[in-house]
Amino acid sequence: MYEKTISSAVIKRLPRYYRYLGELLENDVVRISSKELSEKMQVTASQIRQDLNNFGGFGQQGYGYNVEYLYTEIGKILGLDQKYNIIIIGAGNLGQALANYTDFERRGFYIKGIFDVNPRLIGMSIRGVEIRLVDELERFIKENNVQIAALTIPKTKAPEVAADLVRWGVRAIWNFVPTDLNLPNDIMVENVHLTESLMRLSYNLKAKDEAEAKKRAEAVREESGV
Ligand code: NAI
Repeated sequence: MYEKTISSAVIKRLPRYYRYLGELLENDVVRISSKELSEKMQVTASQIRQDLNNFGGFGQQGYGYNVEYLYTEIGKILGLDQKYNIIIIGAGNLGQALANYTDFERRGFYIKGIFDVNPRLIGMSIRGVEIRLVDELERFIKENNVQIAALTIPKTKAPEVAADLVRWGVRAIWNFVPTDLNLPNDIMVENVHLTESLMRLSYNLKAKDEAEAKKRAEAVREESGV
């Protein structure tokens, strides 16, 4: 148990450490210094040391980090040493794409059921997981120890459906719907919005273009001696 409160910025960086360390493990790397890790990840070595010190360090002076140990410990911090049962609500384009992705299981996330209101989809299977009618949701959640629900339904339906899911025992919502759900504080909500991510990309592109234009204008001014 980690008694200290860890900042959300650090928590956000941990999955990236975990992914890099996983790649190192796959390449049989046994140990790595914070400097090497920093070069690989393009994060400063001091940032890495600071981040990992939040959890007791894990490194040894002159040795660096034991990759397997660090990978396992970060996995524990992220709760990846546990298994989670997930259901997907909405078997449209996005719901089916999520259900088709195989890597979630490798991380301990098991898609147990997919639910929709459209009778034409009912009975179809995606990677062996049957699409069921939403009428079965309450019983299914109670019988299958479902902790997480991915929400991939139209915006108008999302708040009401999310409230039902929580009432039936779901503890966390992986929300892809572009709307705020206003659920009780003890329900974890992780919003995933690709458009917001694109907007950040657009901002960065614009900022880069503006910086380059400014540089060019300065160079012209210098050349003309103005
Ligand atoms: P879609 O129309 O292909 O699929 C929606 C599915 O939800 C349909 O199969 C429909 O029958 C079902 N549905 C409707 N009401 C339902 C209910 N009450 N319970 C269960 N199922 C219900 O739409 P698509 O493209 O898959 O998008 C789904 C949602 O995800 C939308 O809200 C969309 O805005 C959002 N989205 C979010 C993205 C992101 O980056 N977070 C990216 C793409 C879509």
